[in-house]
Amino acid sequence: MDNKKQNKENILGYVTHNVFDKSGRLLLTEGTPLTLKVVQKLEERKLSFRISAVPLGHNPAKSKPVSLQAKTTKPFRVPQRLDKKFERLNGESISHAAKYMNWILRQIHEDVFLNNNIKILAQGHKANYSHSINVALISVAIARKLKYNKISLHELALGSLYHDIGKILLPKSVLDDIAGVCDGQTLIYQQHTVLGSDLLAANKLPEGVYLIARQHHEKHSGNGYPNGIKGNDIHLNAAIVAVADTFDRLTSAIFHRNVLSPDEAIKQIVLAQGIDYPPQVIDMFVELFNTD
Ligand SMILES: [Fe+2]
Repeated sequence: MDNKKQNKENILGYVTHNVFDKSGRLLLTEGTPLTLKVVQKLEERKLSFRISAVPLGHNPAKSKPVSLQAKTTKPFRVPQRLDKKFERLNGESISHAAKYMNWILRQIHEDVFLNNNIKILAQGHKANYSHSINVALISVAIARKLKYNKISLHELALGSLYHDIGKILLPKSVLDDIAGVCDGQTLIYQQHTVLGSDLLAANKLPEGVYLIARQHHEKHSGNGYPNGIKGNDIHLNAAIVAVADTFDRLTSAIFHRNVLSPDEAIKQIVLAQGIDYPPQVIDMFVELFNTD
């Protein structure tokens, strides 16, 4: 397959070993580029594999990340006109978060794995892409109030943007039907947390990034999924993203049948302080809505 064709198919990464089917037949050789279609086929056949973000033999210490995207493409950007709900948030906090996320999006553009995945989200899952940008903005603003250091803020920003990335690996029928799901579909839907964190971890992203994908549906009291962990066992980054995720969902008609106003959503979230979310995160979240 030539490079141009690979670009079009959005390479997620490269398989790090030979992959055999159940009867021992070689399906993929080490180093084969993995597109979304190939990954889905492997998942359907329940074949395990590991992904590397760079081609085999590539030494990231000696050279820049491989850029497979056309040079003419531009980095994604935070929209200049944000959704109306952002008017209710502290203007300075949100404009700082938007500036920071634009810097993150420029960095993502230089990384083949991160850029291809954000492209898949933006082009094939538009509602989730906008939701991910909103969640990242609110998460970064909360973290800044919690006085995050540079490295932690960077991890939180990346992880919040990719918190639902596992959804690109779910069957479309599950995503389309999630409003009226049956139990079986709920279980499959919940797998987006594990699929997303495995994808990020396999590509050597740090714990502060991949645990957001894994734990953003866990609850402070232990009633969440996929593992039902509670309290301090939930990474603070994931707890922050859980609050931002809930706020954006409750106030988005596309995700929530009975869409709430920002103030109604804040009230609902505050009621779950200490139950679904840690108190210190809610305190900072509420502070974001003090108008300037
Ligand atoms: Fe999610």
